[in-house]
Amino acid sequence: MIKTDLTLAAPFLPPMEPWLDRAARALDAVSGYDYTGWLHLPTRTGSALLDEVEAAAARIRADSEVLLVIGIGGSYLGARAARDLLCPSLSGGGTKLLFAGNGLSGQAARELLDYLRERDFSVNVISKSGSTTEPAAAFRLFYELLKEKYGAAAPARVYATTDAEKGALLGMAKTQGFTRFVIPGDVGGRYSVLTPVGLLPIALAGYDIDELVRGARDMQRLCAKNHDDNPAIQYAAMRNALYESGKDIELLASFHPRLRSFAEWWKQLFGESEGKQGKGIFPASVLYTTDLHSMGQYVQQGRRNLFETVISVEKSRRELLIERDADDLDGLNYLAGQTVEHCNRMAAAGTRFAHVDGGVPNLQITIRQVDEYSLGQLFYFFEKACGISAYMLGVNPFDQPGVEDYKQNMFALLGKPGYEERGAQLQARLAEEE
Ligand code: PA5
Repeated sequence: MIKTDLTLAAPFLPPMEPWLDRAARALDAVSGYDYTGWLHLPTRTGSALLDEVEAAAARIRADSEVLLVIGIGGSYLGARAARDLLCPSLSGGGTKLLFAGNGLSGQAARELLDYLRERDFSVNVISKSGSTTEPAAAFRLFYELLKEKYGAAAPARVYATTDAEKGALLGMAKTQGFTRFVIPGDVGGRYSVLTPVGLLPIALAGYDIDELVRGARDMQRLCAKNHDDNPAIQYAAMRNALYESGKDIELLASFHPRLRSFAEWWKQLFGESEGKQGKGIFPASVLYTTDLHSMGQYVQQGRRNLFETVISVEKSRRELLIERDADDLDGLNYLAGQTVEHCNRMAAAGTRFAHVDGGVPNLQITIRQVDEYSLGQLFYFFEKACGISAYMLGVNPFDQPGVEDYKQNMFALLGKPGYEERGAQLQARLAEEE
């Protein structure tokens, strides 16, 4: 099980009982919202779905050097987090997992098109709404290439993960005959990593999705309990108490470089769930020791509105010993006989003490080792804590009304039918800027 240790934040806080009570009440309230299908997803995910996903992954592995995952936000960040965390080696083997449709850079798309033109590939296009501009535009480009390369066999290389009942992607999938996977109607994008949204790319990349779901399932059971042992209650209570005391930036920190993309998933989960109505803890991330040489100064001595949540890994899968050097020209013989991982642990302890002494409360989350089981636990733990936390804050964790504003403007500026009036106003503002 993952372990939480919140003792290093306690000195910064008032007595926690009232906060734990509030978090426990929030736990019951979370299920009262719409879009809470994810709460029971791990225990409801049966072997039939996992087998279906595995079979599709096996088909893709057999005919493709690359699976291109097209999606944005919650429709790709979880799969990328898993790929980057679990990735066994730099060179890798088998079918590569690449991502597109999470931005609008023409240059990036052109480079990827050129790369894929020379390779066998399949596409997993993922969109709950089926109409998000970035992935829809990317899919148009890459589907064209599939048709150019494979002709009538192109649709067999497309795997569409979308809503069961609505959306343009669903319509296309039906008419073109793509293989389809369903995102349950009551599961929103950023809570969907344990649906086929995450499961298919993760299985394709060669990881054990049974273990992933088993980890999530164990965490689901632990986080259902309405008492102080529930780590989601503890974490949510602590971060809300810190927020109330003026700590409104949370840094997700790790000394494990492969957690970089996981931090991006976490930022989206908390940022989009909590940042509403002028409220919310701003989620940021740092990767140590790298960022101790860039952000470390600020963390140690900048404005005191930060707290850190550090994800540690208990057991390293591989060790590397530092050897004695006869000349010791670099003066590093004091490290001889120690592992690099041990040095990393000491760096973590030194940083922890320094930051706490510098006024930065520290929450510790430890996973046993980097594997599918622990990742499943982390995904579910943070989702549940986020739901509770947002409810304590008094916002709906499952909507994102603010994201609409940029979309409306973009549609208007791009001339989408129905946006003519707004388009004229924004074009006038653009002209003023020039
Ligand atoms: O968390 C969310 O709901 C969003 O980040 C969505 O995942 C993102 O906007 C993509 O939406 P869709 O899957 O409908 O294309």
